[in-house]
Amino acid sequence: EKGGYDYFMLKEIAEQPKAVADTLLGRIDAEGALTLDEVRIPHSVLREADKVVIVACGTAFHAGLIAKYAIEHWTRMPCEVELASEFRYRDPILDPRTLVIAISQSGETMDTLMALRHAREQGAKVLAICNTNGSTIPRESDAVLYTHAGPEVAVASTKAFLTQLVACYLVALYLGQLRGTKWGDEIRAVIRDLSRIAGEVERVLETMEPVRALARTLADKRTVLFLGRHVGYPVALEGALKLKELAYMHAEGFAAGELKHGPIALIEEDLPVVVVVPSPRGRSVLHGKIVSNIQEIRARGARTIVIAEEGDEAVVPYADHLVRIPATPTLLQPLVATVPLQVFACELATARGNEVDQPRNLAKSVTVE
Ligand code: F6R
Repeated sequence: EKGGYDYFMLKEIAEQPKAVADTLLGRIDAEGALTLDEVRIPHSVLREADKVVIVACGTAFHAGLIAKYAIEHWTRMPCEVELASEFRYRDPILDPRTLVIAISQSGETMDTLMALRHAREQGAKVLAICNTNGSTIPRESDAVLYTHAGPEVAVASTKAFLTQLVACYLVALYLGQLRGTKWGDEIRAVIRDLSRIAGEVERVLETMEPVRALARTLADKRTVLFLGRHVGYPVALEGALKLKELAYMHAEGFAAGELKHGPIALIEEDLPVVVVVPSPRGRSVLHGKIVSNIQEIRARGARTIVIAEEGDEAVVPYADHLVRIPATPTLLQPLVATVPLQVFACELATARGNEVDQPRNLAKSVTVE
């Protein structure tokens, strides 16, 4: 049941701290190392794998895009991310040293299932990241790492996405731990940060009223753009997808560095543009570049909605609306930066009179190709 909320989606957004904590539960030992015994792929195979390929659809694909940054950084293995619906139609290069990760909330998405079948036929090992016990995708994979989001009823994915991110970070850190990279100390520190992250997600949820108020003022807009860089880029794509699905508005996510290669032509007076700002501490070069992007779009009259870390003062002069998120390690930022975008889309949809839990034309699990 909806537990006092008007919509399942609101309930599921609110459940995110617990979903995140549950997905970490029992997977970090007393010494602060990861114990993913459920990943029943022999350690020798995980150590010798020379490439990771992630296949997924929709929101799960966005989790995969973020996972690529984490996997390549912490394991130094090349990682490709592909829409499952495209994967097997292009003759992908796979062999027994390829580790394929199939991400799916429902475990029944036909595109993802067909992609993993194709991968296994080529001898690749498949690890599923899935939220539904005993569903088809984990059954047909070599191993599964379950996300513990609990049942997700609203068609638009929220808490499953955050737990997919957690599972992806766990896999990246675990592979890093197992294979031994120069990032050993950083991996241990990030595992500590991850174990505290549910509390940070909770803090974001407590400060969402201004985001709701802002969303209600934008109900008559036609377009909203989303910009991000590094892991903020897939977050921008996810923010745009939520808005399309729920508010039926034209929404697009861009990598902020691409702005000058085309999309800046779209910027006009009063256009709402949401910008996900990377931490000024981590990738500080990127931070400076994105602050310039915000200046550029504001100079062209856009309405800037800036999602930035607490203490980031550089963005203040250029933000028409400022949404604060807690400071996190760079790679973990999507766990806190996505939440305001979910709330924004949900509130805009409500303001437009849309059915939040059951958007038109969509189904919770897509069992046809
Ligand atoms: C977006 C959404 C869809 C799903 C996609 C994959 O809010 O819900 O884009 O993410 O259909 O579904 P699963 O994860 O069940 O394979």
